[in-house]
Amino acid sequence: MPHPGLGGAGARDFAVFERPDMRHRIKPLDAVLETARKHSLERSLGPVQLMLLGVGAIIGTGIFVLTAAAAQKAGPGMIWSFVIAGGVCALAALCYSELASMVPVSGSAYTYTYAVVGELLAWTVGWALILEYAVAASAVSVGWSGYFMGLIESWTGLSLPQQLTAGPAWSFSGVDFSHGVVNLPAIVVALSVTGLLVVGTKESAMFNAVLVVVKVTALTLFIALTLPAGDSAHFQPFAPNGWFGPEGTSGLGIVGAAASIFFAYVGFDAVSTAAEETRNPQRNVPIGLIGSLAICTVFYLLVTIGAIGTIGAQPTALGVQPGSAEFARECAALAARGETPLVCSDEALAHVLRAINESWAGDLVGIAANIALPSVILMMLYGQTRIFFVMARDGLLPERLARVHPKWKTPHVVTILTGFFVAIAAALLPVGKLADISNSGTLFAFFMVSIAVLVLRRRDPDRHRPFRVPMVWIIAPLAAVGCVALFVNLPFEAMLVLPIWGVIGLVAYALFGYRNSHVGRGLTEVHELDRDAPDQPVPPIFSQPQTTEE
Ligand code: ALA
Repeated sequence: MPHPGLGGAGARDFAVFERPDMRHRIKPLDAVLETARKHSLERSLGPVQLMLLGVGAIIGTGIFVLTAAAAQKAGPGMIWSFVIAGGVCALAALCYSELASMVPVSGSAYTYTYAVVGELLAWTVGWALILEYAVAASAVSVGWSGYFMGLIESWTGLSLPQQLTAGPAWSFSGVDFSHGVVNLPAIVVALSVTGLLVVGTKESAMFNAVLVVVKVTALTLFIALTLPAGDSAHFQPFAPNGWFGPEGTSGLGIVGAAASIFFAYVGFDAVSTAAEETRNPQRNVPIGLIGSLAICTVFYLLVTIGAIGTIGAQPTALGVQPGSAEFARECAALAARGETPLVCSDEALAHVLRAINESWAGDLVGIAANIALPSVILMMLYGQTRIFFVMARDGLLPERLARVHPKWKTPHVVTILTGFFVAIAAALLPVGKLADISNSGTLFAFFMVSIAVLVLRRRDPDRHRPFRVPMVWIIAPLAAVGCVALFVNLPFEAMLVLPIWGVIGLVAYALFGYRNSHVGRGLTEVHELDRDAPDQPVPPIFSQPQTTEE
C-alpha cells in the first residue's frame, strides 16, 4: 500500500509493508526482499564472470606489496599465514553465500545485519565497513606508490626524496618524520581515482577481465621465474617469530602475519553483491566466491614459495613490527650499506625479480601493478560510496551526503569527501598499518555475517534459502571464531582502532541516526533503487539495471 506524504531521505517510493520490530529496530526481511524484487536486474552473470569479478577485486596490494610485511612478521612461515587467512575467508564466504543468495540486495553485510539483528548493530557494521573500504583504498594507494616509484627509478635512475614518497613512522612514543613525511604519489592516485568516480567512470566487465589477465599474467611470470630458482635452505629458520610472536609483542608470528595478510583476500564480498545479477545464484554465487578465493590462494602460495625460495624472507631484527619507527631505522641503516632485504622493499615482487637479475621481469610486474592497482582503489572507493548511499537512504546519515550530481549522476559529495580522507590517510600512514586497520573493520563485518546466518536459521527456519551453508552449526561458528582469532592477533594499535572508531560511530548514531532512522520512525520503505540511486547504482559494475514495471 503506498504511503502518502512522508518525506525524508529516499522516501519517495515507499509502501508501508509490515511494521518493523520497533523495539529492536529490525527491518522486515520481506520489505528488503521486495526491494530486491522491484530492483530486478538482468540475470546475466555466470560462474566464470563471477570468478573474474572476485579475482579482480581480490588481487592487489596484499600480494604485490604486503608480502614484505608478512615476511618480516613470520619469516618463511608466512606460507601458513596465507593458508590460515584464506581458510577464515572461505568459511566467511560460505556464510556470505547463504545471505547473498537469500537477500540479494546491495549494502552487503550492513543490509543483512539490519534485517536480522537490528539497526544498532547494522549501524556499527556499516560504520566498520568504512574502515574496510575507505582505509583499504588508502592502503592500495600506498601500495601503488611503491611500485610507481620503483618503476621510475628502474627506468630513469632518478628517485624522489624518501621524505616525499613515504609517510612518517608511527608508534606510541610518537611520530618519526626522519624516514618519511608525506606520500605524494599515493595522494595523486587516490585523488585521481576519486575524480574518475565523480565524473561517473565505471569499470566494464571487459575492462575488469583485461585487468585480471594482466594481474594473473604478472603473477604467473613471477612464479615461472622464481620457483625453478628456489633453494630449500632459504626456508630455514622457518618460523623465526614462532606462531604468535615473541613474548610482549603483538601482531607478530605466523598468526600475526595471517591477520595482516588477510587483506590480500579482502574484496571477495564483491561477488556476493552481484547475487541479483547472477543466473542460478544458488549454484553460481558460492562457486564464484569459493572459486575466486581458491584461485587466489593457489597463486598466493606459489608466489610466496617463489619469493622465499629465491632470496629468503630476510627479516630484520626479530620482534620488530613493520611500519614502526624502529623498523624504518633498521631498513635505512641497511640501505646505507647498499642492502635492501625483501622485508624493506616497497615493491616486493618486482624487488625479488630484480634481485635474481631478472630486471626486465621486475619492470613488467611493476607495470602490471601500476595498471591494475588503481582499479582495486576504484572498487574500494566505489563500495564505500555505495554503503554511505544505502545508509543515508535508510535515514541513518544525512541525505545531503547522498546528493546526486545533476550532470554526472554520481553521489559527488560523498565521493569527494571520502576521496579526501582516503588521500590524507594514504599520505600519512604506511601500507601495513593501513591494511591492519582495514582488516579490523572487515573482520568485524565478517563476524556479524556469520552470526546473522545463525540467528536467521533459528528465527526464520522455513524461509527459502537458495544456498544453504553445509553443517551450518559448525561452519558459521568456526567462521566467527576465526574472525575473532585473527582480530586479536592484529597489532595492538590496529585492534584499538575498532573500538575507538565504534565509539565515534555510536555518538554519531545517538546524535543523528537514532532520531532520523526511517525504521525508527515506523516507516518501512520499498525502494525502486534505480530511481533512488545515483547513476552508478550497483557495484557489480557489469550490467545495466532493468527496472521491472510495476
Ligand atoms: N585484496 C585487495 C588487495 O590486496 C584489497 O589489494
